[in-house]
Amino acid sequence: MRSKSSQRWLQRHVADPFVRRARAAGYRSRAAFKLLEIDARERLLRPGTRVVDLGAAPGGWSQIAAGRVAPGGIVVAVDLLEIAPISGVIVLRGDFCDAAVQAAIGSALGGHPADVVLSDLSPRLSGIASADQARAADLLRAAIGFCRRHLRPGGTLLAKVFQGEEFGGVRAALQAAFREVRTRKPAASRGESRETYLLARGLKGP
Ligand SMILES: C[S@@+](CC[C@H](N)C(=O)[O-])C[C@H]1O[C@@H](n2cnc3c(N)ncnc32)[C@H](O)[C@@H]1O
Repeated sequence: MRSKSSQRWLQRHVADPFVRRARAAGYRSRAAFKLLEIDARERLLRPGTRVVDLGAAPGGWSQIAAGRVAPGGIVVAVDLLEIAPISGVIVLRGDFCDAAVQAAIGSALGGHPADVVLSDLSPRLSGIASADQARAADLLRAAIGFCRRHLRPGGTLLAKVFQGEEFGGVRAALQAAFREVRTRKPAASRGESRETYLLARGLKGP
């Protein structure tokens, strides 16, 4: 039998207009609309852009990115979970922190650094808010480390973050690494959810 909270989640999910729109449009996740909205405003993804999508499963963001960067661009999608093939996307399975996975990402990019790193990374949630926020913050710090190795100077990181006691620290870490950091909360991100997105532009050189 389902718990009360998972019943509530299921009822909300079924009634959610973004879930219905995602299904109708053939997107694998309602999260696709978050990237669509941010990209419409910020124009991150253009033909020729090289993109790495960290924590990409089931693949909604990668579907959007693949449509935007063609022709000439590359989208590399990485996740601990399996991602079913997506047209125009190089799919890798593994932990993006692993050296071997990072080497595979580098090869998939053809030896060039990325122009844009997308991070919708989420840890497996325990339900204990402070522990979940700390793990999410660790993932974001790892994503910043990834950018130092695989994003070009001047490049952009769009990253999910969670409001809470870790927020100031991760924002400061982004500000240390990038010239400009702005908060973006797309309409598809549920109002009651603690998640928001930080858009960090202009990776500083070494
Ligand atoms: C919210 S989902 C991403 C949804 C995706 N943006 C979409 O539109 O379909 C977050 C993902 O982060 C992945 N993840 C968490 N830690 C990871 C890690 N260390 N390496 C790779 N993927 C990771 C999880 O497996 C999960 O699939």
